[in-house]
Amino acid sequence: MKFFIDTANLEQIKEAESLGVLDGVTTNPSLMAKEGISGSENILNHYKTICSLVDGDVSAEVIATDYEGMVKEGEALAALHKQIVVKLPMTKDGIKACKYFSSKGIKTNVTLVFSAGQALLAAKAGASYVSPFIGRLDDISTDGLILIQEIRQIYDNYGFTTEILAASVRHTMHIVNCAKIGADVMTGPLSAITGLLKHPLTDSGLAQFLADYAKANQ
Ligand code: E4P
Repeated sequence: MKFFIDTANLEQIKEAESLGVLDGVTTNPSLMAKEGISGSENILNHYKTICSLVDGDVSAEVIATDYEGMVKEGEALAALHKQIVVKLPMTKDGIKACKYFSSKGIKTNVTLVFSAGQALLAAKAGASYVSPFIGRLDDISTDGLILIQEIRQIYDNYGFTTEILAASVRHTMHIVNCAKIGADVMTGPLSAITGLLKHPLTDSGLAQFLADYAKANQ
C-alpha cells in the first residue's frame, strides 16, 4: 500500500519524507488555507515546492466548479510539474473533466467520494485515483471501511485500474484496516503514519536490551 501525507505543511512533508516511506502528497483548499497560502501565484509556487520535497504524486485540487473552468485550471496545474495529479470534485462536471484529462494522459484524483456508485463513475471516467473519505463517513455514524470494501470488490470484478486512495484517514487503525481490505493508497496526517511506530513492548524490550548490554559491558 502506498502512503500519502494529507497536508500542505512543508515541515510535516519533510518529516514524513525523511522516514523513507512516503509515496506522495494530497492537498485540498482547506489544507492550503490552513497554511496561510492564498493568491493563485503563491498557491502554484507552493505546489512546486511540495513537488521538490517528495518523489511521488502530488494532488492539487481545482477550485472551478464548471467543466471549462476545471479544464483550464487543471491544465495549468498539470503544467507546473510532472508529479502533479489534478484533483477534481465528484460532480457531473468533475467527471467530464476527469474523462478529458485521462484521455490526454494527465493523472487525476476524483475527490469527495462517499458511495460505491460515485467510485464506479470515477473509474469509468478513467480516474487515476478515487478518494473515498472514510473518516467523514465514520463521523456521521457510517462505516467508511465498508465503502472501501465495496469499491475494492467492484474494481476487482471489472479489472478497473483506478487506484483506491483511502482519504480522510484519521488514525493508525484506519491505515491497518485499509491495508487489510486492499486499498491501494492511504492519505492521512503525519500523526497517523508515525503512530504506526508505537508499541509499548517495543519500548520496554529495547530498554531491557540496552540495560543488559550495559551490565555485560561495564
Ligand atoms: C483527501 O484528499 C482530503 O484531503 C482529506 O483526506 C480530507 O480529510 P479530512 O476529512 O480529515 O478533512
